[in-house]
Order: sequence, then structure tokens, then C-alpha cells
Amino acid sequence: METVSALRVKSLYKVYGNRADKAAEILRNSPDRDEKLAGLPVTAAVVDANFEVKRGEIFVVMGLSGSGKSTLIRMLNGLLPPTYGTVEVDGVDITKLKPAALRKLRREKMSMVFQHFALQPHRSVLDNAGYALEIAGLPRAERREKALEALRMVGLDGWADKLPQELSGGMRQRVGLARALAAGTDIMLMDEAFSALDPLIRREVQDQLIGLQAELGKTIVFITHDLNEAMRLGDRIAVMRAGRIVQIGTAEEILTDPSNDYVAQFVADVDRTRILTASAVMERPLGVVDVNSGPRVAARVLRETQTSAVYVTGRGKQYLGTVTADAATQAVRDGRKDLREIVSTEYVRTVEDTTPVADIFAPCAESPAPVAVVDADGRLAGVIPRITLLSALGSLSSDADEGSTTPEPTHAADPAPTGDAMPTGDTLPTGDTLPTGDTLPTGDTLPTGDTLPTGDGTGTAPAGNGPAATPEVPAQAVAEPSARMTGEPA
Ligand SMILES: Nc1ncnc2c1ncn2[C@@H]1O[C@H](COP(=O)(O)OP(=O)(O)OP(=O)(O)O)[C@@H](O)[C@H]1O
Ligand SMILES: [Mg+2]
Repeated sequence: METVSALRVKSLYKVYGNRADKAAEILRNSPDRDEKLAGLPVTAAVVDANFEVKRGEIFVVMGLSGSGKSTLIRMLNGLLPPTYGTVEVDGVDITKLKPAALRKLRREKMSMVFQHFALQPHRSVLDNAGYALEIAGLPRAERREKALEALRMVGLDGWADKLPQELSGGMRQRVGLARALAAGTDIMLMDEAFSALDPLIRREVQDQLIGLQAELGKTIVFITHDLNEAMRLGDRIAVMRAGRIVQIGTAEEILTDPSNDYVAQFVADVDRTRILTASAVMERPLGVVDVNSGPRVAARVLRETQTSAVYVTGRGKQYLGTVTADAATQAVRDGRKDLREIVSTEYVRTVEDTTPVADIFAPCAESPAPVAVVDADGRLAGVIPRITLLSALGSLSSDADEGSTTPEPTHAADPAPTGDAMPTGDTLPTGDTLPTGDTLPTGDTLPTGDTLPTGDGTGTAPAGNGPAATPEVPAQAVAEPSARMTGEPA
């Protein structure tokens, strides 16, 4: 286990303006600090930021235009000196470094990818990709080799000799990515790196980044004002508002447990079915029998729980399949003793605990008894009755309906197109990954009483910190999320 985080930020402030130090002091020490600042000609762009980025993590900083994201990321590599606080890179406080040492650190440890690629128009794709290495003084042959390798990683092998203007926007962005990769630094800082791309290309590049990250294990700080991008990429997400980090957590934590109304409103529009996984909605299975217990026990549990199938586990809760009431009864009649002979993996569908909720609708609709959820080691983690899935989705949808207002007006700050500042429909996950009407278990396919595991038919709240379930789910609430997505190509 690594003990030193890749990045550690403590009590970090950046105030722009003439009386910056004074303002930062007020912000740090005074309870009614914001009012006291009113008289000073300053902008408090980052206020008391505290976080760590683990090695190999994609840490996303998300917030509306003007919330301080770029200011924050520029302090991480020392491009901008903080007004107060410390930034540690691999345990070294870079705010104390001399300019030369800082440049060396940037060269060796962190590279930055910008929104507008910052490619040099008269240099070939290859030379652009190898630019950081040229600055670092590497010999030409070595530069070429590393740049070509980086271009290969981003799928641009054949384009080395072209000029940037001969490339599409998405390809140019990938040259920017290749340049950061060729530099070979462990840490990559990406400021709105994909924001200029149209939604489909953007998704492609996101996928590529996720793939590269898995392969190379880079530590990435990724800035975006797009919520869905944040949710897709981030291992953890920091939400910024007016200079302050108001919440840090996984996508799921932020969705299910927003720290305040602002975050709740911000995330109201996200497609939760892509973020929440089976483990967030599953329940404790009622009828579980050990494979060594025999058909009689299975039959008894079936009677007691009034279910149509019991879940059979072996050594270490390994999930083996289900035994139906019919099979158990027949086995008892025939005098058979071994449950193994009648366990089936056909009757009930199985999903993994990491499966997004969106991908559980079909198995749930097809499965006559609650879908079995297994973990990475094949153990039975829980089950998902249809009613639970519908209830969870119902509560998610109603959240979304309440929160469709804009959290705050966007600053008309520089490069970001203002219309972009909120998560918009065009950046949402595309149709291919969404539950469409025909696979949704809508009203007409609702489970009937005899296949319901809970007996009382109300559907209990999902275990743990999952969203609360509501018993009544209008069919249109279920179909609602797909409405926005229609027409999105795969
Ligand atoms: N060099 C500067 N001098 C004075 N004020 C600045 C400067 N740079 C940024 N600001 C102000 O600091 C605040 C935060 O700006 P910043 O660029 O960090 O926001 P951002 O979250 O990156 O926004 P965007 O999404 O539009 O890029 C804004 O109010 C901005 O006007
Ligand atoms: Mg910015």
C-alpha cells in the first residue's frame, strides 16, 4: 500500500486582486467572512480547498463556470502560486519550490492537457506529440520513438506526419492527450480537456482515457463542468461551488447522499440508472439454503418464505443456482437427498453487483423470481425483486423531477460556452446504454403476487444506504428517463 498520496492539498486559497492576502486572512479567520470581503476589490476563486488524490485515481473536479476549477488545477502544478495553503506532490510541498525546481517538477511529474489542445499549427502531429520531450532536451530519435508510441496509444499511428489542421477536433484532442502521455509523467492534469468535442466523439475519447488509465495507472485530475462526464470518469468527484469544495465522494455517494441542496440540485439531471449499480438496490435474499441441506429443507424454506425458488449456496456462500418449489417437492417425493441434482442456473437470472441498474431491467423482467446478485468472487450478495427495482427507480425519477432547476446563474467567464455550463441533454449517456421502453418492466409486466419474494407485496427499502423505496411507482416515471435520450445514436 502506498502511504503518500500523489497529490495533497491543504487549506488552499487563491484570491485575485490587490488586497489578496488581506482577503484570504479574513476568509480564514472570520465567521462572517463573506460579508467582510464585500469592500475589497478581490475575487476569492478558491477558498479552503482540502483533498488528496490517490495514486492511480481519476479525481474529477466539477463545478459551474467560474466556480474556481481552472484556478485550482493551476495551483496543483505551480503554474499559479496560492494565496495561502500548501500543495504536496509526492509528499513535496511545491509552494516552497524555486522556479527552476518547479519547472523540473512539471517536466518530470505532471503534464497538463488543455481544452483547446494548444497544438502548434506548423508542426507535425509527431512533433506536437513529442513537444514536452523536446523541451526536456531528449535526443530526436528517442523523442520520435516515445511520441510514436503515445500516438499509437491514442489510435493515431497513421497520422504522425500530418499537420494539426488536417485532423478533426477529436483527433486534435487526442494529439493533446498523446503529448501528455509521451511526456511519461505519472500525474496528468486535464482542464476541460474534452469540452470542445461534440458528444459522440467526446464519449469515444472518454472511453479511450478510461482504457489508457486502466493500462497505465496514471493519476489524473480531470476538470469538467459536465456532470455526466464527471460521473463517467471519476473514481471520486469533488463538487465546487463559488470557490469552495462542497462535497467529495464517488458518483454513487454524491447521487445517493448529496451533502446539501446545491449538490442535490446539481445532480438531479443525471441518469442515475447508469451510475447506481445492482449493489445499491439489492436486498437480502429471504430464502437461502446450503447445498448440503437437502430437498426437504429447501421445500420447508420455500413454504416459509412463500417464494417460488430458493437460492442455493455452497462453501463460502458461493452461489450455485436456485431450486424451484416444483423441483423440491418432486425430489422429496422421489426420496432424493442431494440438492445438487436439482439446482438450476436457468430459472433465475444472475447479475454482478457492479452491473448498472440500467442493465438490470431486462434480466429482472425475464426472471420469474428475484434476480440473483453475485460479487466478483461468485458469492451470493443479494437479490433484486422486480418491485424493488421499480420502486428504486420511482424514487430516483421523482428526485429528478423536483430538481430540474438551475442551481445558480452561470458566470459569463471566458472560454466555456455558457450554454454548456449545466449538464445538458446532449452529453448524457447515449441511447444504446439506456433502458428503452420495450425492455422496461412496465405496468403490464409487473410481478404477480406469487412471484413476489416479500410476501407482503410492498417491496422493502433497499439495504444499506441505497435510495429509499416507495411502494407506488407510476409507469410513466419508469419510462421517463428514456424520453430525453431518444434519437441518440449508438
Ligand atoms: N487572472 C485572473 N484575475 C482575476 N480574476 C480571475 C482570474 N482568473 C480567474 N478569475 C476569476 O476567478 C473565478 C474562478 O475562475 P476560474 O477560471 O478558476 O473558474 P472555472 O471554474 O475554471 O470556470 P470555467 O468553467 O468558466 O473555466 C472567476 O470569478 C474568475 O472571473
Ligand atoms: Mg476553467
